[in-house]
Amino acid sequence: MTEKQITAKIVFCALDELPDAEKKLIQLAKQATSKAYAPYSNFQVGTAVLLDNGEILTGNNQENAAFSSGLCAERVVLFYANARYPEAKVLTIAVAAQNMIGFSNEPISPCGSCRQVFLEAENRYHSNIRWLLYGADQIAIVDSVKDLLPLSFDVSSMDIKD
Ligand code: THU
Repeated sequence: MTEKQITAKIVFCALDELPDAEKKLIQLAKQATSKAYAPYSNFQVGTAVLLDNGEILTGNNQENAAFSSGLCAERVVLFYANARYPEAKVLTIAVAAQNMIGFSNEPISPCGSCRQVFLEAENRYHSNIRWLLYGADQIAIVDSVKDLLPLSFDVSSMDIKD
């Protein structure tokens, strides 16, 4: 039997410690929460991505009465970016969430399906995507979705050899 330790790097910081460009991306993600369509959960998630062509796009969660037909804010903005600028890499995503009380105190953590979709994007563009996960008390920074998805399944997993 062997045991492997898989480590993940997650940096926690205050908003003030971030460069202005990243503060702005978080601000845009916070603003985008208010345009979410989340009548069922009342949990409004906003996202903003910075692309390597300089463009910034925003998104938010889109719910549906048939619950599984809705989509998280992270995938909405990533698919939107890939649809509009398929040649551009997504460099950074900021994520913020609020409910009827206000913004979450702790950083919002992306769901498993979003992590899987971002892994595909990192592989497709051969480029890591940096996460800025907003919480009112602290921000979590992750340099690659691989830090959030150990032992992941991707295209290489299907390459079975004798
Ligand atoms: N949601 C997101 O948009 N992003 C996340 O990271 C977590 C969850 C959405 C999905 C659903 O519309 C609502 O939040 C409650 O789960």
